[in-house]
Amino acid sequence: MKLLVIGSGGREHALVWKLAQSPLVTRMWCAPGNTGIAEERLAKNGALVECVAVPAEDLPKLLAFAQQERPDFTVVGPDNPLAAGVVDLFQANGFKIWGPNKQAAQFEGSKAFSQDFMERHGIPTAAAGTFSDVAAAKKFCAALGGKCVVKADGLALGKGVLICTSQTEAEAAVDEIMVSKAFGSAGQRIVIQELLEGMEISLHALCDGKVAKLFPTSQDHKRALDGDAGLNTGGMGAYSPAPFLTDAELKSVGDAILQPWLRGCAADGIDFRGLLYPGVMLTKSGPKVLEFNARFGDPEPQVDLTRLENDLAELLLASTEGRLASHELRWSTNASVCIVMASGGYPGSYPKGKVITGLDAANVLPNTKVFHAGTAKKDGKTVTNGGRVLGVTAWAKDLAAARNAAYATVEKVQFEGAHYRRDIAAKALK
Ligand code: AMP
Ligand code: GLY
Repeated sequence: MKLLVIGSGGREHALVWKLAQSPLVTRMWCAPGNTGIAEERLAKNGALVECVAVPAEDLPKLLAFAQQERPDFTVVGPDNPLAAGVVDLFQANGFKIWGPNKQAAQFEGSKAFSQDFMERHGIPTAAAGTFSDVAAAKKFCAALGGKCVVKADGLALGKGVLICTSQTEAEAAVDEIMVSKAFGSAGQRIVIQELLEGMEISLHALCDGKVAKLFPTSQDHKRALDGDAGLNTGGMGAYSPAPFLTDAELKSVGDAILQPWLRGCAADGIDFRGLLYPGVMLTKSGPKVLEFNARFGDPEPQVDLTRLENDLAELLLASTEGRLASHELRWSTNASVCIVMASGGYPGSYPKGKVITGLDAANVLPNTKVFHAGTAKKDGKTVTNGGRVLGVTAWAKDLAAARNAAYATVEKVQFEGAHYRRDIAAKALK
């Protein structure tokens, strides 16, 4: 099978690494890919994965590439091409492609759509209102005592969510999104949710339009600094499993969310074939969905896919073809920990082009994988080329051992200004 993967981050490196192990895959391209992806080889025949200089968001160029090379199957990593309808476009041109279509991708593309869906179909979520009027929005914040989360409706590179603890902050947040238009047209409408407290977990469920297969829980670390201080980021590290739910509790949380979600999709005529990623807060009054994403997280798959025992290509094909019911997901009993090494300054502005050393020493370690996120090649050297640079991942028989191995590897890898959190998985080990 000839496979095209769309995207270039740590998530896509993890997808490519796992897909390259499939005996089904005989050739693989990644558009646009990154330095680490370009070093992956297929288990089937030793061929290198080929990175092609087509941006993940350029739908006409992606289609032209597919028409030229005729991939048998395409896998979409990031949210933007999904929201823009890359799945519909490829299908209309006769290509098999994994990911939700444009209608189904609205779960991530519009927070107002998701909030309305959750309320209509009885999915546990935060008390919320949707507004396109500034005064009405501020009044709703006041009714919540200013303790609220103000969210731009549309995609905003993960930055359109402002957490407020006072009415002053809430009014400033509403103004920032709706009046100053900090996130452009994504902020024409806003969703305001009550501020929930509890432990946050990431759920991932692979869906085929009829059934949803839940992954083990993982936990991301969204803030830049230790102790969940500092600014929100794309994610500074993750680990799996997250020990806050027993298997029975995970099943009951999954059912409470996924059963009404599947019924709602059927009732509304939404055919979701892809990965549903609910962000969930475990509150005193039960689990509540904060938001839905319509793709794998990043860095969650770095830890999930290093534990998955199935052939991922086979699973994604089954998801696309509506055959998931006959597949059981199998997970290694290992724990996996991913530590993101970021550029100095991230999530603010940061320099690029810093030479990365120590990758060769890290790459030979057992049960360890350094996933690339923002890297490039310059004069034969691997250099930094993004905010999140590497996802250093290790797996072992338990979380403590996996964490030690991941941090020992981080010590071997260096670039000027590198920063990473020292408390990844610490909550789980308390
Ligand atoms: P979202 O993109 O909607 O997941 O929001 C980004 C982050 O903001 C989440 O991962 C949570 O940490 C936080 N967040 C979002 N909604 C809420 C809420 N209603 N209460 C508390 N924290 C929230
Ligand atoms: N890990 C956060 C996200 O993928 O949205």
